[in-house]
Amino acid sequence: MCGELRVEQDGQPVVLMGWVNRRRDHGNLIFLDVRDRSGITQVVLDKEVSGEAHAKAEAARSEYVVAVKGKVQRRGAGLENPNMPTGAIEVVASELLLLNEAKTPPFSPADDAIANEEVRLKYRYLDLRRTEMQYNFALRSRVAMAIRNYLVEQGFLEIETPFMTRSTPEGARDYLVPSRVHAGHFYALPQSPQIFKQILMISGFDKYFQIARCFRDEDLRADRQPEFTQIDLEMSFPQQEKVFRVVEGFLTAAFKTASISLTTPFVQMTYDDAIKNYGIDKPDMRLPAMVSLTAELTPELRETLKIEKELPVLGFVIPKAGTLSGTQKRALVEEIRATFGDCGLDFLDVARLKTNDAFAPLASTIEAKLSSAEPSTGTDADLIIVVTPKIGTPAKWNFDPQWIYKRVGALRLQLAAKFADKHGRFVKTGTEADFKFLWVTDFPMYEWDEETKVWNAAHHPFTSPHEEDIKAGRLTNDKGAVRALAYDIVLNGTELGSGSIRIHRQDVQAEIFRSLGMSDAEAKERFGFFLDALEYGTPPHGGIALGLDRIVMILAGATSLREVIAFPKTAKAIDLMVDAPTPVSDQQMRELHLKTVVRS
Ligand code: AMO
Repeated sequence: MCGELRVEQDGQPVVLMGWVNRRRDHGNLIFLDVRDRSGITQVVLDKEVSGEAHAKAEAARSEYVVAVKGKVQRRGAGLENPNMPTGAIEVVASELLLLNEAKTPPFSPADDAIANEEVRLKYRYLDLRRTEMQYNFALRSRVAMAIRNYLVEQGFLEIETPFMTRSTPEGARDYLVPSRVHAGHFYALPQSPQIFKQILMISGFDKYFQIARCFRDEDLRADRQPEFTQIDLEMSFPQQEKVFRVVEGFLTAAFKTASISLTTPFVQMTYDDAIKNYGIDKPDMRLPAMVSLTAELTPELRETLKIEKELPVLGFVIPKAGTLSGTQKRALVEEIRATFGDCGLDFLDVARLKTNDAFAPLASTIEAKLSSAEPSTGTDADLIIVVTPKIGTPAKWNFDPQWIYKRVGALRLQLAAKFADKHGRFVKTGTEADFKFLWVTDFPMYEWDEETKVWNAAHHPFTSPHEEDIKAGRLTNDKGAVRALAYDIVLNGTELGSGSIRIHRQDVQAEIFRSLGMSDAEAKERFGFFLDALEYGTPPHGGIALGLDRIVMILAGATSLREVIAFPKTAKAIDLMVDAPTPVSDQQMRELHLKTVVRS
């Protein structure tokens, strides 16, 4: 292969096939960089060695497909290229075949960065030829294989579940497939294999997994595609810790394929602690936590600084902001104030507090407390922001004790991103520090939807609440306090996966449907088959699903799933290469008993 040749092959005959990456014409000498999946080799066409081959090379252009026969030769002293793995050799061609021509491409696959993503997606086959993309997909293949091998070794069975099914409740809209045979009836594409994997537990397959395609019609973002791949698994009789060990095991195997070793078990944190310390349910552990400064503020100081009594005061460090001047910091604080508007919070830059004698001791205490926060952000971290609730605020917002934490947590991330590198890394302190895993546990069971005024399932309605919360009657009296046996695996602030211990008793499942405002009739209509199945000897079970695309994205250092999905869709859910979706013929519409009514 083009990327494999080294000085050890000096003098050996070779045949290479691939694409012309670049061509340089020096008259009697023409250089073709020939590229295949493994890399690039410089091929020399010397008129003196073969006039015929040289003549063909004159006609060759970028992206022509060629076959070369020749001999490996060590490059002369000073002519080596240390930036190329094959840079110590070249191949002197004795024969050249032009296997196929190529039109001048709209961009060169030889270039590292191409600005226009639309062009990349339209000519995806050219884009995928780029070294970076070839690396990403080789990585993706290794990761998937490592995970599959690990799970099979652990006794998991890979079982496929249907694409054409009925709606699965994961909170997005369904993609629907009209039935030709049953007029007016539709299949739904699965948002996940959730119900099927639970049924497989009832069927006695105690360890199931699948690298499963899922389909969700939802608002798309850099880390959300309408079709994506889950590593989906389910086990019978597990404690949640057992699920954690399996996931840690396959992630360790997956990361090993990129030469990254992970330390297990991963850190665990409850949802409540995540909110309190990071203001978010998917903390980025590369950044130190927010710190509560409530205890540092005397009542007198609160009064002088016009801070509301009893409410939390939070501080955080912004890494890599050390290059900012005093004026820039002040401008930044003003910008934050403007963004937050009149929401009842105020912002202080600690360095500025220091300039006032009255507050200097407080500033030093805060600084000391935050500079000992883990992980350390190094010497660049000298912007410290303190967020204070202004007097009178509880009346201003419909008071939610988590509100301040969430708002400040979001601000902290927003500011940190300002100073991150192009890979979204805040602090780089070595390979392992770049990958911070975390289990978040004990999620709330219900989420209040202020718009529709209903309680929704925070994960999905098959998640088991904590036994004590059921016993204490909280399902009916105090939904907000019910904790679920639900967990997330988080990497560097991205949710990689979610799972839970499931409900395995029919009566509890029916009660949960009721508590979500679903009538028994509606539950029977949507999930009757499942409620029936639960009554035939259902083992306790639980599982999880991780986004394969997201794992590979982070591992590849990419910031969009489009870099690790071969044929992705745009933010508007369009495939620019094949041009989908499209209208279909009248004939097809008739067969499917459909009529389009375009509403404005
Ligand atoms: P959940 O809906 O949290 O859980 O999905 C699990 C993981 O799938 C990935 N993911 C996505 N990736 C790319 N694009 C999307 N649109 C997208 N949506 C989700 C995320 C997410 O963490 N059935 C449950 C799992 C279970 O309970 O076992 C489920 O699907 O990485």
